[in-house]
Amino acid sequence: MGVPFLDLKTQYLAIKEEILAAVSGVLESTQYVLGSEVAAFEEEFAGYCGTRYGVAVNTGTSALHLALLAAGVGKGDEVITVPFTFVATAAAIVYAGATPVFVDVDPVTYTMDPDRIEAAITSKTRAILPVHLYGQAADMNAIREIADRHGLLVIEDACQAHGAEYRGRRAGSMGALGCFSFYPGKNLGAYGEGGIVTTDNPEFARTVRMLRDWGAEKKYHHTLKGFNYRMEGIQGAILRVKLRYLEAWTEARRANACAYMDSLENSGLTLPVEAPGNRHVYHVYAVLTQQRQELMDALNARGIQTGIHYPIPVHLLPAYSDLGYKSGDFPISERVACEELSLPMFPEMTKDQIAQVSAAIFEFSHAYQS
Ligand SMILES: Cc1ncc(COP(=O)(O)O)c(C=O)c1O
Repeated sequence: MGVPFLDLKTQYLAIKEEILAAVSGVLESTQYVLGSEVAAFEEEFAGYCGTRYGVAVNTGTSALHLALLAAGVGKGDEVITVPFTFVATAAAIVYAGATPVFVDVDPVTYTMDPDRIEAAITSKTRAILPVHLYGQAADMNAIREIADRHGLLVIEDACQAHGAEYRGRRAGSMGALGCFSFYPGKNLGAYGEGGIVTTDNPEFARTVRMLRDWGAEKKYHHTLKGFNYRMEGIQGAILRVKLRYLEAWTEARRANACAYMDSLENSGLTLPVEAPGNRHVYHVYAVLTQQRQELMDALNARGIQTGIHYPIPVHLLPAYSDLGYKSGDFPISERVACEELSLPMFPEMTKDQIAQVSAAIFEFSHAYQS
């Protein structure tokens, strides 16, 4: 018994034959880095997102780094983003030579609060980098309207939001550039590391394509100072197989979220809210509770694994203390960081597993109240 936080093995077993054939094809072809499988995946994933181009790279962090560089972000520039995210969002801005400027998140969706953006814009601001946290798109119309008014580019951190939609548009297709991660636990995960940049802009696509492969379009003719950020052939082939299942897996996640919603309605937990017009893809099923540690311990004692995404907002991480922020600067991010608990969520979850999690939560809350 017990419920894992996620179960990559069950998913692998369901598609094992196709995966082995795809991997074997790459081994036979010897196209181990980039190659035809990666090129085909780029086209298929761009099509899935509704963009003209997709440029595959080795991680989501690299996708963010190169998207920022292609957008012209560099030394002395500021990029507005959120402190309540995985550290990679801010790290990529620093890699590009720029400074992250944080704005707090919305208390209901935990994504960038558009009402706080304008106060953070300075003459150095170059871009806005919202994060589609947990699989739910940020309020992109409001963000893009502000960006347009101030002549800024919007780059989407869609690393957790494969297939998420905002008013009918897919994540990765609403900013000038979109960035995805294919880390194994993501909704679309490689069997290793991976990432991609999506865009409609041919110049951005061309620049990212060059930068990921040492800044050269022609071997040894290095036009730009580039990087070795290429996707491996095996990952491209695996991702092509898995992309065919992504919609079914997403619908399974959404059904699991509905089941959680029904069973946890009176649990006292704050449940995730799907904003009107959004398609939340539940990369993370995040609840809030003031008894987080106690609930985590109680679930753990029943073999139910949980996670915290994320316990410390980036502005309070020692690594980013040089940005000069302090406790109290972003109260919503700080509160959510203290109260957030991620329940098990994966497409292959059974009704029984969801029932086990909710029964354990109710058992805990009755015991806690008495
Ligand atoms: C919001 C966010 N941004 C960026 C990244 C970085 O992606 P990767 O781990 O593939 O470098 C992640 C992945 O963990 C993420 O969740």
